[in-house]
Amino acid sequence: MASRQIQSIRGMNDILPDRAHLWESFEDAVRGWLRAYGYRNIRTPVLEQTELFVRSIGAATDIVEKEMYTFVDELNGESLALRPEGTAACVRAVIEHNMLYAGPQRLWYSGPMFRHERPQKGRYRQFHQVGVEAIGFPGPDIDAEHLVMCSRLWRTLGLDGLSLDINTLGDADARTRYRARLVSYLEQHEDSLDADSKRRLRSNPLRVLDSKNPAMKAIVEQAPRLADDLGEASLRSFDGLQQLLREAGVDFRVNPRLVRGLDYYNDAVYEWIGGGLGAQNAVCAGGRYDGLVEQIGGKPAPACGFAMGVERLLELSQSPERAAAPAMDVYLVNQGERARKAAFGAAERLREGGVTVTLDVGGASFKSQMKKADASGARFAVIIGEDEAAAGAVSVKALREAGEQARVSIAEAINLIRKQ
Ligand code: HAM
Repeated sequence: MASRQIQSIRGMNDILPDRAHLWESFEDAVRGWLRAYGYRNIRTPVLEQTELFVRSIGAATDIVEKEMYTFVDELNGESLALRPEGTAACVRAVIEHNMLYAGPQRLWYSGPMFRHERPQKGRYRQFHQVGVEAIGFPGPDIDAEHLVMCSRLWRTLGLDGLSLDINTLGDADARTRYRARLVSYLEQHEDSLDADSKRRLRSNPLRVLDSKNPAMKAIVEQAPRLADDLGEASLRSFDGLQQLLREAGVDFRVNPRLVRGLDYYNDAVYEWIGGGLGAQNAVCAGGRYDGLVEQIGGKPAPACGFAMGVERLLELSQSPERAAAPAMDVYLVNQGERARKAAFGAAERLREGGVTVTLDVGGASFKSQMKKADASGARFAVIIGEDEAAAGAVSVKALREAGEQARVSIAEAINLIRKQ
């Protein structure tokens, strides 16, 4: 009896070769883009102490309350968590390695993040982010740099339907004042709140404003506004950001209801929204988090950053011409024992000459190897039979256009293939 087939975990996807090349070309574009702005790569572990996320993202957030993959390491009793995002770990590493000693840091990271959410289109339990953090810089210039950067990337990727929402959350004092006003307003309407909002009213009232439930729309719209509690410095910084964006030609909309689901933010926050993605339409989001470095145990330092969801961006940037994987240059057909031995060396020499080669292995018939060459999508078949092997030559045959088969030396083959 066959063994039970083992499946992948719900919400965690395999990225198969037919799509992985899209990831690779996205990653190439992103690397060039980050280099152009002087951001340096940082790589942190996928596991961290649970405490790191509780302290940074906040104990009363959905992520920490319900979505983290947390477990106790049986060997030493430590509580560990799979990272649900990258900012906290990046800041932890910056503090741990005294990186701010050398001055402010422009950093980026990429990799899988984990949240135990209900999977649906655009929302997964393992998903991938590319994140950017600028640590040690006060705003608003660097916040503007981040938004200008993003809009350049969208252009590079051919994404023109993205819109930008921005808001300011002010400083901690403003939020304390606002929180009190908001709670007393929500308490007056407590009977009309849905279960989630009732719970948030006590734990994290600002998140009530983020409710996606249409039944909550009227209450949210009538709610007092944070803008009325903002201090002078926050207002000036937010105005400065808007001015820089206008000068740079980055379109945006001020959305006073934008609050974000992580507690570490202050002042400017934003989200890039993609059309046609359904409910999970935020493709990139971030903002300022001036209190976080100190909260995690470092000397106070201003900071801001953003992260984009790679799955959601790839979903948006799918077009037929991008869907085709790049073709190999050569499928190397070899027939007979002597030819098989010669083929290994020939393939290496072709590769040294900058030609990409798939070598036929397994010794099938000539006819079946030629069929495989054709199906592989390669531009040329390079053929080594007994005669070619004896002469130290190869035969080259164009597979995608008409043309004679030519017997040439390997050096000539390289020229011929690279010319076309
Ligand atoms: P976030 O808004 O939680 O922010 O996530 C950023 C982006 O990651 C989202 O806009 C979305 O595109 C993607 N994303 C989040 N959850 C999922 C999911 N379950 N499935 C697929 N994609 C998802 C942060 O994570 C902050 N660390 C951003 C930041 C960096 N703020 C300052 N610096």
